[in-house]
Amino acid sequence: MKILILHGPNLNLLGKREIEIYGSESQDDLFEYIKNTFLDIDFTLFQSNHEGHIIDKIHDSDGIFDAIVFNPGAFSHYSYAIRDAVASVKIPIVEVHLSDVTNREDFRKRLVISDACLFTIIGKGKLGYIESINKLQEK
Ligand code: DQA
Repeated sequence: MKILILHGPNLNLLGKREIEIYGSESQDDLFEYIKNTFLDIDFTLFQSNHEGHIIDKIHDSDGIFDAIVFNPGAFSHYSYAIRDAVASVKIPIVEVHLSDVTNREDFRKRLVISDACLFTIIGKGKLGYIESINKLQEK
């Protein structure tokens, strides 16, 4: 199984940004943790701060990866273009948020990409990634 871990803006700063919310582990730490939890899965990590690059990566992933675990960062709250890209490809895409976006600022409560995703997991930190991959494997 080949899975793309796709990260949107500012997730490259995990471990440095708002550590009281996102924790002190870096993006690389998170990626190592995921890889070490599922030794039989072939993972790729792609992070971009640019909407178009994320859209291109989603398009290019169709037929290459079996699934995408996607944390769109703040794009989750307003990018219809990314929502349409997710809806345009056949591979399952699941949405994960480290923090509980339903219990933060109002603008974070609106998730415009979720309806195009297979499911969404929020507020479970790095365990949300593990749960989402377990669920994908059960499919
Ligand atoms: C986030 C939540 C978003 O609101 C925020 O913009 C992020 C991270 C999360 O993982 O909790 O960058 O997606």
